[in-house]
Parts: sequence; structure tokens; C-alpha cells
Amino acid sequence: MRRISRLRNICATTSTLLGILLMLAYISEPEGSTDREKFFNRMKSANVTIEDEDDNVTQIEPLPPKCEQNITVASIPGFQSLSPQIQTFLSYRHCRSFPLILDLPHKCGTAQKPEDVFLLLVIKSPPKNYEQREVLRKTWAKERMHNGKWIRTVFITGTDGSGFEKERMNNLLALEHKQYNDILQWDFNESFFNLTLKQILFLEWIDRRCRHVRFLLNGDDDVFAHTENMVEYLQSRDNDGSKHLFIGHLIKDALPIRNPDSKYYIPPEVHEQNPYPPYCGGGGYLLSGYTASVIYNTSKSIEIYPIDDAYMGMCLAEANLQPEGHMGVKTLVWYIPSEKLDRHDPCYMKELLLVHKFSPANLYIMWHEVHNPNLECGISSLR
Ligand SMILES: *[C@@H]1O[C@H](CO)[C@@H](O)[C@H](O)[C@H]1NC(C)=O
Ligand SMILES: *[C@@H]1O[C@H](CO)[C@@H](O)[C@H](O)[C@H]1NC(C)=O
Ligand SMILES: *[C@@H]1O[C@H](CO)[C@@H](O)[C@H](O)[C@H]1NC(C)=O
Ligand SMILES: *[C@@H]1O[C@H](CO)[C@@H](O)[C@H](O)[C@H]1NC(C)=O
Ligand SMILES: *[C@@H]1O[C@H](CO)[C@@H](O)[C@H](O)[C@H]1NC(C)=O
Ligand SMILES: *[C@@H]1O[C@H](CO)[C@@H](O)[C@H](O)[C@H]1NC(C)=O
Repeated sequence: MRRISRLRNICATTSTLLGILLMLAYISEPEGSTDREKFFNRMKSANVTIEDEDDNVTQIEPLPPKCEQNITVASIPGFQSLSPQIQTFLSYRHCRSFPLILDLPHKCGTAQKPEDVFLLLVIKSPPKNYEQREVLRKTWAKERMHNGKWIRTVFITGTDGSGFEKERMNNLLALEHKQYNDILQWDFNESFFNLTLKQILFLEWIDRRCRHVRFLLNGDDDVFAHTENMVEYLQSRDNDGSKHLFIGHLIKDALPIRNPDSKYYIPPEVHEQNPYPPYCGGGGYLLSGYTASVIYNTSKSIEIYPIDDAYMGMCLAEANLQPEGHMGVKTLVWYIPSEKLDRHDPCYMKELLLVHKFSPANLYIMWHEVHNPNLECGISSLR
């Protein structure tokens, strides 16, 4: 015991020193160095280490080499007339390795003692969405046991902004991570067209750190997910996570959107006029650990495509696996069974698995209302 508390003292002193070192490194950075160089210099000068639960200190992993912009994309016919977002996408499409800024090495236990995580909630959340994360931690994404099964949570994120603003957000996020231990952050720019990259990085992390996870919920930070219903639903399936499962709001024969004003606009330069393979709406879907591994493996040979949920469908199709639809997952806002039905009716929510899209305040209220033991509901509209 004494040895451990002495160690802790040393650690506390070391981290104060580290903090000072970090500050010094930050102040003494040469003008004009890129964000990445700054990050690298900080890590190097601070000799950052990650400590595991047995006071075992592991060295931070070497940073992946910087991925250079592909300048030959400029020769694609019509490139100059594409939007800046799509030009950027094409220039960095080949990049798949980015440094991990915040890691969760023991989220699923240790290599010696893996924890039996039944449902891992993997929530896409940019650094600035602090309020959403805060409410989720108090509602459906709270880490807990339900029906004898562990629910664990990770928020997956990149970086917001650049320069000082980026540093500031990263520092805030690091504090949040220290407090809650539930953030995975990579050093890439958050953007709608980088969501597929985020998925791939995350699947790679699962492959390395959480291989034994049984099921995953992959979704947005503005959905209402009835995670208890999910656990019960998954327990009712004849699958312990080692067989294929990919289920959500099924979308079939969707075509790339050709309206240049849409957030989802895809020019012919990025995807020809073929329908996407079947996929599930990205607001939230459930998959088994097995299927996550298959998707990760097949993704290695499939070029990154900017629409992340459609990309998952492409990986599934490549592996000859089908996604499945579930009535209880509503990721499209207009997908409500009847006009008379109130989307915010707790009785409606009580029977669902997942509904898009909620403000943090509405989520909080709804979660408590759905769990109100005095809630009176009539005959189900869904059965
Ligand atoms: C970083 O830490 C490792 C292990 O404690 C040590 O071997 C190495 O010399 C350190 N590097 C620097 C630059 O301090
Ligand atoms: C530290 O970790 C290494 C590699 O996982 C292991 O071989 C070693 O026994 C650990 N040391 C302690 C003190 O736990
Ligand atoms: C760069 O872009 C060109 C044109 O699209 C493409 O043919 C080439 O494969 C890309 N290079 C890399 C490294 O992805
Ligand atoms: C990330 O985006 C910012 C603008 O938000 C830009 O200034 C910066 O150059 C981008 N970084 C990279 C590596 O593309
Ligand atoms: C994706 O992130 C990389 C790394 O920060 C950045 O260079 C690239 O511009 C981003 N792509 C898009 C489409 O924003
Ligand atoms: C994915 O590839 C890895 C490494 O080749 C392999 O160990 C694993 O079994 C594969 N996953 C599946 C589900 O086939």
C-alpha cells in the first residue's frame, strides 16, 4: 500500500512537472509551425506516458507519418469547379492514419483481464458538443449494468478549428476526458466529409482495444436511444456477438444526392450514378463485435466514401452481409407512423430503440418521463 501511495505522490509531482513542461513547450514553439508539429513537439518534450491500473507505465505509441495532400487530384476533369469541401475531400481521401490524442486503453478491461462489455455505445460527437455529451452521460449513455450486462460508453471525436482555437478546445476536451474517461480523440479535422474516416479510426481502435465486445451502438449525439430496450432486444436474439448482426433504419436503393445545395451533395466525380448497397441510417444502428471486425477488415480495401452510413453498407456488401431493418429505429425525422402521433410522447418512446433528433434539454426530460413509474400508457400503437 505504502509503495503505491508513494508512487501516486510521485505521479502527482510528475504530472505537475509535466504540466509546466507542456506550458513551456507551448510558449517556446517556433512561429509558423503547424498544428501537427506543435502536437508532436509537445508529446516529445513532455515524454508523455500512459499509466495503466497496475502502475505499469507504457510509452506512447509512435505517431503515424504525416499524410500529404494528393496534388494529382487537380488533374481530375472539372476539379476546379467543385466546392472547396469536395476538393479537400479528394485531396485527403487516401489518409487513414492520424495520431490518437485521447485514448481509453482500459475501456474494455486489460489484455490480461478483459471485461465482458455487452453493449458499447459509440457516439460521434465533435469537441464543441459538450452539452450533448453531458446530458447523454446523465441519461441513456450512462455507464451501468442492465439485466446483468455491462453498458459502456465512448465518444469519438476529431479536432475543431485551427491554431489557438484548436489548442483551446483540445485542452478543454482533455479535462473532460480526465473527469469522465470516455473520450477517444484523433488529430484530424472534424467535418461532415470526415465522418467515414472517424468510423474507420474507431473500428481500428476496437480491433486493438476492445476485441471481445459483444455489441455496439454506433450513433449520433442528438438521438434518443433506449439503451435498456436495446440490451433486452439483443439478449432475445440468438447471438452472443460472434455472429453477424447489423440492424437499424434500413435504407435501400438510395442514390447519391445531386442537388449541389444539399449537405449530402455528391458530384459524379466522387460517385457515379449507382444506387448505394442497402445500409442503415447513420443516426444510430446496432452491430455485433463480429460484424464490426468484418467491416474493419473489408474497409482496408474500399476507398473512403464521404457518406459514412452508406460506406458501412458498401463494406457489408463486399463481405456479402446484409443489414437488417428494425421498426423501433427512426433515424429520419419524418418517419413517424401516423400524423396524430406525437414524436415527443413518452409512451411512444418507451417502446422504441432509437429516435432522431433531440435537443439536450428534450432528451433529459424525455429520459426521465420514459422512466417515470407512474407514466400511464394506453394500448400500444406499434403492436
Ligand atoms: C522517455 O521515457 C522513457 C521511458 O521512461 C526513457 O527511456 C526515455 O529516455 C525518455 N525520453 C526523453 C526524451 O526523456
Ligand atoms: C507491465 O506490462 C507488461 C506488458 O503488458 C507486463 O509484461 C508486465 O508484467 C507488467 N508489469 C507489472 C508490474 O504489472
Ligand atoms: C491521387 O489522386 C489521383 C486522381 O484522383 C488518383 O488516381 C491517385 O490514386 C491518388 N493518389 C493517392 C495516393 O491516393
Ligand atoms: C483544418 O481546418 C482548418 C479550418 O477549420 C484549416 O485551417 C486547417 O488547415 C485544416 N487542417 C488540415 C490538416 O487540413
Ligand atoms: C479531414 O481531416 C484531415 C486531417 O485534419 C484534413 O486534412 C482534411 O481536410 C479533412 N477533410 C475534410 C473533407 O474536411
Ligand atoms: C479480420 O482480420 C483479422 C486479421 O487478419 C482476423 O484476425 C480476424 O479474424 C478478421 N475478422 C473476421 C470477423 O473475420
